[in-house]
Amino acid sequence: MLTQQKVIDAINEQIGYEFSASMQYYAIAAHFAAEALPQLSRHFFRQAEEEKDHALRFLKYVLDAGGSVAIPAIAAPQANFANAEAAIQLSYDQEVHVTQQINGLVELARSENDYITSNFLQWFLTEQLEEVSSMDNLLKIVRRAGENLWQADEYLARVGATTMPEGKSA
Ligand code: FEO
Repeated sequence: MLTQQKVIDAINEQIGYEFSASMQYYAIAAHFAAEALPQLSRHFFRQAEEEKDHALRFLKYVLDAGGSVAIPAIAAPQANFANAEAAIQLSYDQEVHVTQQINGLVELARSENDYITSNFLQWFLTEQLEEVSSMDNLLKIVRRAGENLWQADEYLARVGATTMPEGKSA
């Protein structure tokens, strides 16, 4: 096997966290759909799919490294939110937490001199920078809209949640 069992165990745990993040985003997407905010809903459906892809990337890595895949049990996601800001704050906090988890995996891989896993994890570090910053931006958009959430919804359709104007970043 290319990597230590303890690294495989930690990645299996991360598969659970990524599926858990995916389910939380599906729950938030459903919440916004029920509130007749289709762009916010679409945004979170897309995020949910991305988290599922993250889980599958980790799953493939365990297989490629010669380990055994063991997907852990996942708790039910939060289904009710006081308002849109609360749902997006939860998402932002979740992304910050996942970033800490990925940092922990990098530390573990490095402490084991496991450069293959460390290299594999670089993609996730870049992805987390993008996800934390776009969720932070979405929080600002929703706070600015206040009670007029349809404005946030329209803004998302026209501009999206990225920090830089289109065409001004790589
Ligand atoms: Fe897979 Fe957004 O962390």
